[in-house]
Order: sequence, then C-alpha cells, then structure tokens
Amino acid sequence: MSDRLKISFAAPSLPSSGTLVVFVGDDLAFTSHVADRLGPAALEAFSRAAAAERFRGKAKSALVIAAPAGLEADRLVVVGVGKAADREKTDYVSLGGAVLPKIGRTRSAVVLFEGPAEWRIDAEAAADFALGAMLRAYAFDRYKTKKKDEDEADLTTALVVAVEDPAAAKKVWKLREAVGAGVVTARDLVNEPPNVLFPEEFARRAEELTELGVEVEVLDEKQLGKIGMRALLAVGQGSRRESRVVVMRWNGAKGKKSASPLCFVGKGVCFDTGGISIKPAGGMEDMKGDMAGAACVVGLMKALAGRKAKVDAVGLIGLVENMPDGNAQRPGDIVTSLSGQTIEIINTDAEGRLVLADVLWYAKERFNPAFMVDLATLTGAILVALGQEHAGMFSNDDTLAERLSAVGAVTGEGVWRMPLGPAYDKMIDSKFADMKNTGGRHGGSITAAQFLKRYVGETPWVHLDVAGTAMGSPASDISQGWASGWGVRLLDRLVADYYES
Ligand code: BES
Ligand code: MN
Ligand code: ZN
Repeated sequence: MSDRLKISFAAPSLPSSGTLVVFVGDDLAFTSHVADRLGPAALEAFSRAAAAERFRGKAKSALVIAAPAGLEADRLVVVGVGKAADREKTDYVSLGGAVLPKIGRTRSAVVLFEGPAEWRIDAEAAADFALGAMLRAYAFDRYKTKKKDEDEADLTTALVVAVEDPAAAKKVWKLREAVGAGVVTARDLVNEPPNVLFPEEFARRAEELTELGVEVEVLDEKQLGKIGMRALLAVGQGSRRESRVVVMRWNGAKGKKSASPLCFVGKGVCFDTGGISIKPAGGMEDMKGDMAGAACVVGLMKALAGRKAKVDAVGLIGLVENMPDGNAQRPGDIVTSLSGQTIEIINTDAEGRLVLADVLWYAKERFNPAFMVDLATLTGAILVALGQEHAGMFSNDDTLAERLSAVGAVTGEGVWRMPLGPAYDKMIDSKFADMKNTGGRHGGSITAAQFLKRYVGETPWVHLDVAGTAMGSPASDISQGWASGWGVRLLDRLVADYYES
C-alpha cells in the first residue's frame, strides 16, 4: 500500500545519493537558484542529454540522466512543466502522480521545488504534489503471495519534497494526507474480493473510523425490519449474508451542534449477481465493485475526521448482497418501502435504487439534512452516456449542482449534469403499485434518478451515478487503475470550499 512511500518536507539541498528531481519549462532554462545548485558540469550533462533525447520540457515529460556529472546523486530527473502561459494552471496532484514512476526504484529521492518562474512553489502546491505521489504509489497486492523480486518487494522510497518553508508545507500536508488516506480506504474497499468483503465485514471496517472520533452505528437486519426498510431487505433476502446499514457521524462544527448536518449516502451492494434477473457470466466479477458509492462515503468520512473538518456530516451506507436463491425476491413482487410507497419489482437487477430509496428516506427523516449527496454505481446506461470521464449528476437544487461542478473542475473528478422531469418520472409509474423499479430501455440512468427523487422530498439533493468512474477505471497519473477512489477528493473539497465554519 502507500507505506512503500515515505513523504517528508525539508529545506532545499542536494542529496548525496539516490534521485534528484528538478523542474524546467519549455525554454529549458533553470532558475538561477537551481542552476547554482546543479553547477556547470551537471548543466552541461543536461543540455547534452536534452539534445540527444530531444527533450523539450513538455508538461509531465521527464529526462532521466544516470550518474550525472558534477552531482553526488545517482540519477538526475528533469521534469518538464511546459509553457510559461500554462504554468499557473498546473495540476500539482497530477504532476506528483506523473513524477513518481520517473523516480524509479531508489531508496531516496529529493524533489527540488524551486521554480521555474511563473510557477507556484508554495506550501499548497508542494503538498498537492505529495498527495499525487502518494496516490500513484498505491497498489493493491495483499493477495499476491509471490512478489516479483524479494529485494524490491519491501523497497521503501523516502521522498523528500524540498521547499523554502518546509514547516508551512508540512502543515498543509497534514490535511492532504488525511484526504489521501480516505482515498486509499475507498480503493481498498472496492478492490477487496466479495468473499472477504460482505456486508457485515464492510460494516466492521466502517467501525474502524471510531478511532478517528467518528460515531459509528451499525443497524442489523432485526433493527432494519423494525424500522421498516423493506425495500433494502428485499434485495438482501436471497443472500446467506445479512444486510446492514451503517450510520457514521462526524461532529466537527463544535459548539453549534447543527440541527441539519450534511448527509452522504452510498450504495453498498457488496456483490451484484443481478439476483433472479441474473447477469451474464462475462465480466460479472467486476460486480464486487458495486459498493463503490458506500466505499466513497467511508473514505470521505475518514478524510473529514482525519483533517478535523469544521463541519457536521453524516455518512449512511446500505450494505447488501444481491443473489439468486429460493428465498430471493422475484420480478412481480411488490415491496413496501420505508416511506410507505410501494414498488413493483420488474427486474431484480435494478436493486441499487431499492437500497437507496430506504436509506435516503431514513436520512431525510432522521437528520433533516442541509443537503443529501448520494453516490451509486447505479446504471450501466451512464457508461453509455458519459463514458468514464464524468459521473452523471442529477439534482433538484441548482446551487448544490453548480458547487459540485465547480469542485469537479478543480479536483479533476468531473461531474456532468443530466436532466430530470415529469415526463421521465411518468416512465416509472406502475400498473400495480406506486412505482416500478425500471423504466424501460430508454434513458435508463434518468429513470433510475427519478426513482430516487421520489424518496428525497424537498431536501436539496444530488445523485451521482458513478458506475463509470469509481470502478473499472483506466489508469491515470494518480491511479494504477480499477478502483480509483473516485469522489472522496470531490466531496472533501465541496465541504472545505463551501460548508466549513
Ligand atoms: N450495478 C449495476 C450497474 C452497473 C453496471 C455498475 C455496470 C457498474 C458497471 C446495477 O445494479 C444494474 O444492474 N443496473 C441495471 C439496471 C437495469 C436492470 C434497469 C443496468 O444498468 O443494466
Ligand atoms: Mn444490478
Ligand atoms: Zn448494482
């Protein structure tokens, strides 16, 4: 996991071994600071190597010079940051992720955060860079019994980010590190196999947040039955594994004791076979990731608690396993949800909305939230609409939706707003009950969102369909792929920018 990278901050100085990383723009000119440190021999080695490799200083490109003349370091890595005009837009998190593999398998690396000009080299930029490196270093290998190379298996790289004011950078890093830890937790949960991470085990892992001061409540099937969450229980009734709902409370807005906390709700289908409406075999193993919404909520609560966010937030997750069985629910069944509204089951594979219907209603009734944001790997149709670039966003509140779009642009966890409306709502009216759980082939992500809307009342609400972004993700600068931990940084930023006192 991320313990293969040890991150620290120090004042700039040249290392006597390992890797030295410096930055350069597309003019290939170093600031006088960096040029002085490197000295004439290393500068000469750089210009020869740059010419030989046609290195142009393009953003995120790197030139690696082994055994550089005039330096004690074993490797000099020169990282491009592109054109002066583009430099102020640098995404330091991505940059840190992109640089990490260039550092190579060395025991130590010093990153000289000293330019070039037109570049932010402040504490925030340095801490963001470190966050990117931390996220890129993540690997899920706990089930690999044979490591590639025994020497490399336990190789830890000490990464020193060298900045003018290390104390200031360290302070920001404390906050970023907490967010990074939340992302790592979300990734771990999504990556875990479904025989290990079933609802009870998921709940047990959520309970670990108590160490950070989060109040965690686990509701078992008996309690859920008493409360009346029959839609959620119907999904889990075909499984040998019991269902759970977990409520996580972080009270960080000390003193005020908010009567309307922020609520985050996650779909936690630990495995989705489809149930009686069973899915085809090909790729079904991916459905271990159908709890990515819940994983994000746990990761977010960990981030908020870890950085002691000044906010009152509640995370609620519905944990079930959707299996075919003699006791499983059937197409044609009619279930009564916690809200009292009845649902005709058309397709047992449209199970996520049944889980969320009860948890959203419960959150609304119990907590009177300032807003609710739910995350769910809800529909394959959102992949058809948006691919893996954006999560689908549905909302009854323009302000909240605009805020999410804004933090999406900043964090790179993009959301794209999709429509809602009465014509779509009609598509889920049922002949036999108040509504049916599918709306036909057209607009599948929208009718799923309309279904959820029937359970949020007047509460400002956003639904994020993360089926395309939170699992099966392609590799990126900050992720080696599959479980991206999508949404933790987005929602942490939403809270930080708009809701902290
Ligand atoms: N968990 C799936 C959606 C999904 C698909 C997530 C692909 C990640 C990748 C969800 O429960 C589901 O099966 N949805 C159905 C709904 C349909 C039956 C109306 C779907 O998308 O086909
Ligand atoms: Mn399903
Ligand atoms: Zn599902």
